[in-house]
Amino acid sequence: MRTQAIAALFLSFVTLATACSDATACVNGGHQRVKRDEGIIEYAAVTLLDTACETEFHPDQLDIAWVELIASNTILRVNVTSGEQQRFPLKNPAGLPSGMEFLPDGYLWLSEVAGNSMVRLDPADGSMTEYPFPWSNITVIDDLPVGIRVTIDVSGNRDRGAWFTAVGLNGIGRIDIDTFEYEIFPLPNLLSAPLIIQGGPGSTMVFSEILGNRVGTIDVNTKEIKEYEIPTPLSLPQGVATDPDGLIWWSGTGSGNIGTINVTTGEVTEISIAEIRASGNSTVVGDPGSIGSSGALALPGPIRVGADGKVYFVEGNLVFLGNRVGQYDPKTKQLVEFLTPTSLSGPCDINNQHPDAMYFAEFTGAHLGRLDY
Ligand SMILES: *[C@@H]1O[C@H](CO)[C@@H](O)[C@H](O)[C@H]1NC(C)=O
Ligand SMILES: *[C@@H]1O[C@H](CO)[C@@H](O)[C@H](O)[C@H]1NC(C)=O
Ligand SMILES: *[C@@H]1O[C@H](CO)[C@@H](O)[C@H](O)[C@H]1NC(C)=O
Ligand SMILES: *[C@@H]1O[C@H](CO)[C@@H](O)[C@H](O)[C@H]1NC(C)=O
Repeated sequence: MRTQAIAALFLSFVTLATACSDATACVNGGHQRVKRDEGIIEYAAVTLLDTACETEFHPDQLDIAWVELIASNTILRVNVTSGEQQRFPLKNPAGLPSGMEFLPDGYLWLSEVAGNSMVRLDPADGSMTEYPFPWSNITVIDDLPVGIRVTIDVSGNRDRGAWFTAVGLNGIGRIDIDTFEYEIFPLPNLLSAPLIIQGGPGSTMVFSEILGNRVGTIDVNTKEIKEYEIPTPLSLPQGVATDPDGLIWWSGTGSGNIGTINVTTGEVTEISIAEIRASGNSTVVGDPGSIGSSGALALPGPIRVGADGKVYFVEGNLVFLGNRVGQYDPKTKQLVEFLTPTSLSGPCDINNQHPDAMYFAEFTGAHLGRLDY
């Protein structure tokens, strides 16, 4: 897409412009970026009670990470070069930030797990505006400041909408970022539990259905919903992403698989991490003193495709006490698993906006991390 190409160009300019601020990444007067050593570093610390998860960057300002601190009900602004931090608490004291994304209006949009609102954050000053859901008065508890809509993630950049998963409404929601009008698109099956949403192939958004054992797409123009069954029962689909060719990558936290969906043919593939490990096609990189659940069970979570064409996913996110970030090469079928320096860190979500690194935050590790590749 044109806007993505422009964003990518911008990104490379910003990267060049900031290359010298990292002492080890600057030669020839700053005209060339030297590849950093491959591996994970923890670039900033938070507290264990913050339960950090998602990291996002404004596309024009890649040295500022915006990180959600779920239990602290706060959005954190971190200068990834200087480490300087600033905290912006949500207005609703029980809102609990969930997913977030910068959209074409230049604002960071976030959903609230418990707040029954979408929130728009201005990156210039951290100020937030709430947009309460219009779907209310269904049960008596809906009028409380905390509700059952259970919104988990938001994404977009396919149209002028912030698209979000509404678990409590069993649907995909949209708020127009210009008019602030809400729409809801119910899912075909009950109890699908839509979880993560990302830009999908073409004019679609793609989302996981963790209880429905499906991955779905919704076309932002026609609003048509299509669903793809995951072959292994109880896979607990969590991560979804789309590569530049339009191939969907997904992860099954329960089955320990990652896989692809070709929306042209409808073909769904499954790749077993346990089988890759058993076949000798995997290596583990990092301090062997780091422990976590990922050694026994991969528990793959959020997934992204890197600028190098490899597929990256966190292992054992949220409360699962994992400590690895996986890097799968679809061409060679080799897996490299990078250990987080902190044990039991629960690397929570993963961001691919930098062209040479994956950023993540640790839910139970009290650090913000980066995998240089
Ligand atoms: C981040 O910190 C670096 C190093 O102190 C500084 O040069 C840069 O201007 C900061 N970035 C922003 C957006 O404030
Ligand atoms: C919910 O119902 C109450 C009582 O009927 C009404 O006062 C209130 O405005 C309604 N709230 C919404 C958001 O519609
Ligand atoms: C989907 O499969 C078709 C037929 O094999 C192929 O031509 C196409 O490139 C595939 N699409 C993606 C996104 O991989
Ligand atoms: C392991 O790698 C080899 C060589 O690329 C490949 O042929 C084989 O299918 C791989 N096995 C698994 C389980 O990925």
